[in-house]
Amino acid sequence: MDFPIFHLDILGNRWLIATIAIIHVLVNHGLAVGMMPLVAAMEWYGQKKGDSRWDALAYRILFVSFLVTTTVGALTGVGIWLSVSLVNPYSIGSLIRVFFWAWFTEWLVFITEVCLILAYTLSWKKWSARGPEYKTKHIKLGFALGFFSWVTMAIIVAILGFMMDPGNWLADRSFWTGVMNPLYLPQLAFRTPLAASLAGTVAMFLILFFTKKDGFRLEALRSVGLWTLFFAPFILITGWWYYSSVPEAMKDNLGVSLGTLQFADWQDKFLRIALFTVVTILGVVQVAIWRPHRLPKIALIVPFASILWMTGHFERVREFIRKPYIIGQYMYANGLRAEDYALLQRDGVLAYATYSNPLSEDEQSGLPEGLTPAEQAALLVEIQQGKDVFMDTCSRCHTSHGVNGMSVHLQRMFGDQQWTPELTAGYIENMHYAQPFMPPFPGNKEELWLLGVYLEHLQHNKATIPGSQSAGVIVNRPPQ
Ligand code: HEC
Repeated sequence: MDFPIFHLDILGNRWLIATIAIIHVLVNHGLAVGMMPLVAAMEWYGQKKGDSRWDALAYRILFVSFLVTTTVGALTGVGIWLSVSLVNPYSIGSLIRVFFWAWFTEWLVFITEVCLILAYTLSWKKWSARGPEYKTKHIKLGFALGFFSWVTMAIIVAILGFMMDPGNWLADRSFWTGVMNPLYLPQLAFRTPLAASLAGTVAMFLILFFTKKDGFRLEALRSVGLWTLFFAPFILITGWWYYSSVPEAMKDNLGVSLGTLQFADWQDKFLRIALFTVVTILGVVQVAIWRPHRLPKIALIVPFASILWMTGHFERVREFIRKPYIIGQYMYANGLRAEDYALLQRDGVLAYATYSNPLSEDEQSGLPEGLTPAEQAALLVEIQQGKDVFMDTCSRCHTSHGVNGMSVHLQRMFGDQQWTPELTAGYIENMHYAQPFMPPFPGNKEELWLLGVYLEHLQHNKATIPGSQSAGVIVNRPPQ
């Protein structure tokens, strides 16, 4: 608890990260990792057939990808790490300690990728005009770019897999066991054909805008359709591999029958969505390949939308199954390390909190009637401490009254009866059994009660909690 707490109290912190991350994954997979090899393949095909229409089409698709990846893609890429460091600086701190050299390499590879996409796009016309020898070189440049785009993904996926299940790293703490975590290869294997197919559906969509309604459009749709189709079965096979690698980790993580049940539910749902998406893609792409003139423009939105939807859903499931941890078995989503729990539960989290989050004017209203000024002041001190417990242990996942808001849950559970500490503390003490994706309460008995006092206050006070980015903090002085 060495950092002030950044907090968004309406949509919640998780939305900030999720929105940025999902946009980034879609741009990265659909327009970079999958698209660069596809564009290079189209350029190569055009040269082989001596058909300049292929060349023109490939260039236009590249140009769109170039614009989007170097703006939206690059910004959201940096945005992920910025938002995650704001919301959970402890997890990023741990990851940097383990993956420092991976990130450093990633930076070099990313810079290379940016230089290559600039070179590939800007030299297209010049090199094409210089004759076939240069054209061949240019095509190689395209495939090199595709390779580097894939390598950036391959590095980051190691970190994502690690967060889900660090595997043997928990015992030996070495860089390479961290990289070669149990979910690394299956996840990389899954994302690779997913990116290729996603790029295929995006390209088919763009073809409708970049070609005239003639024989060439049909030929282009058919060829890119074949590309998309080719990767679809691999999505299923590697998806199956990935999902059969996860439960092992999950069993260790939760070890609670409810958790396993909930997970099985999600897994079931995911597999059905994956199957449905692949079948839809197959259906529409089949038509594009065999009866392209019958294909209405609007139909191409179907595979495009379903693959976007599936990718988004997949990222959500990936986030979900990791809970209650942010780094499997090592650090809980509240930013506290599992091994620090014994200490915190003995001394309390407030004993180690560097900062306090002052109550705003609005947050101080709604006290019970009939208290003397002295009683009010004493109650406010408790509410303040309870709020600090809430901010330190719940606010990474919960808001006060917004998305996943405390008052929403308490209203559903306890209705209009008074949410007294006696009522809520019993639940919170056991919340990790009731909802295994929540970490156990890290504080001591007294803090459990203080948190209860704060939650009771929320019943009568609807103010939003300002994060330290707007309200500032009070620095706690260590006990003398
Ligand atoms: C890892 C993130 C996370 C943390 C940390 C967390 N929760 Fe939760 N909590 C959740 C999620 C997710 C739900 C379920 C949301 C849903 O089902 O709509 C939930 C549900 C709840 C519920 C409703 C339970 C029910 O059975 O319906 C309560 C009450 C609750 N949390 C209290 C707390 C308190 C108090 C803290 C802090 C001591 C806390 N949570 C910390 C993620 C978290």
